[in-house]
Amino acid sequence: MKIQKLSKPLRGEITIPGDKSISHRAVMFGALAEGITRVTNFLQGADCLSTISCFRNMGIQIDNSPEEIVIHGKGLHGLSAPACTLDTGNSGTTTRLISGILAGQNFSCTLTGDESIQSRPMGRIIKPLTMMGASIESVKGNNCAPLAIQGHPLHSIHYDSPVASAQVKSCVLLAGLYGDGITSVTEPYLSRNHTELMLSHFGAQITSEGSTASIQADPKLHGLDIAVPGDISSAAYFIAAGLLVPGSEVLIRNVGINPTRDGILRVCRAMGADIQLLNVKEAAGEPTADLLVRHSTLHGTVIEGELIPTLIDEIPVIAVIAAFAEGTTIIRNAEELKVKESNRLDIMVTELKAMGCDIEGTDDGMIIHGGKPMHGAVIDSRLDHRIAMSFAIAGLAADGETEILRGECVNISYPEFYSDLNRLQNA
Ligand code: S3P
Repeated sequence: MKIQKLSKPLRGEITIPGDKSISHRAVMFGALAEGITRVTNFLQGADCLSTISCFRNMGIQIDNSPEEIVIHGKGLHGLSAPACTLDTGNSGTTTRLISGILAGQNFSCTLTGDESIQSRPMGRIIKPLTMMGASIESVKGNNCAPLAIQGHPLHSIHYDSPVASAQVKSCVLLAGLYGDGITSVTEPYLSRNHTELMLSHFGAQITSEGSTASIQADPKLHGLDIAVPGDISSAAYFIAAGLLVPGSEVLIRNVGINPTRDGILRVCRAMGADIQLLNVKEAAGEPTADLLVRHSTLHGTVIEGELIPTLIDEIPVIAVIAAFAEGTTIIRNAEELKVKESNRLDIMVTELKAMGCDIEGTDDGMIIHGGKPMHGAVIDSRLDHRIAMSFAIAGLAADGETEILRGECVNISYPEFYSDLNRLQNA
């Protein structure tokens, strides 16, 4: 994929696809509920399709049409043993959340995914699930997938998670559905809370206090209608494009602005961004808004601590924004970025440097001295969707041409990314 520096402003409106985290959860919880769950604005990205395929392989009927997906839930104990290895593709969310569910079933199975998934840390879920009495092991003994899980009833526990990770938290809470009391998880900082919000709407007894979430075992979950908000992690690329390309004004419709996900808005505003929230609404606990983004003169900032989980997937594109802002941006406490679909810390430092940025990597983040002249380069996405999209935006603002190798990986979370970008450029 080749991107040229934009010589005219980005103008117009865009409706970005459904939230990836919420789409995954809608399928999983719908499968465990009794009756029909209807989901509109479901993200038809490869990751969420992996989740659908895993649940179909466990006997759940899921009808997927462009208007809605319909999940024919069979209740907490209605899954059946898959006849094959479950394939989670590139999806960490599928792998970790489904493991919590599988740990409590009355069958055994194996799950695995692509090369990236097979190198991502699964010790972080093996440990708490084992504490709950689960039989889960890394087949190759390296704490990564493939994972062999022999399901059976579990014990409820309290787990102090060393990482602020919604995938770990959700895995333990889902295993807690099959426990014998109350299961709770405390994390260092609150991570995205879609599991807590959505499970409670499905009928689970789940409470949150600070960074602790607790769930009562064996609830009766009932089917729901769910309208998935637009994904702020996908909106992030258009926020960045609107801010960086001179003269731009972009309206991004129906974006989820859950406070556990809206760190990018807070950081951009701290950098001087002109972003207005219009038409703010809330459905099933998930707030949404239209974002009006105008080109802005930006300056550096510090990003650290409890802010990090609220923008973890947006750090690559925030690094791009910082490269074009005046002054220094410091990102700390972001070591989790090393274990995403790729090592996003190392890759952002290497590739932004290749475009002329004055940037250095640190143990847990990066220091970006922004405002230096940036030029196009050939960037390998490493098959990481967020790397590909971040550099596509960098390419719009840098001199000359940027080429994204293996850029088709955007289909993981945003299949229409390039066509949406094209449409705005030509509006
Ligand atoms: C997700 C949680 C985050 C995020 C991922 C989606 C989720 O991962 O990076 O893209 O849906 O729960 P961690 O919870 O491991 O930080």
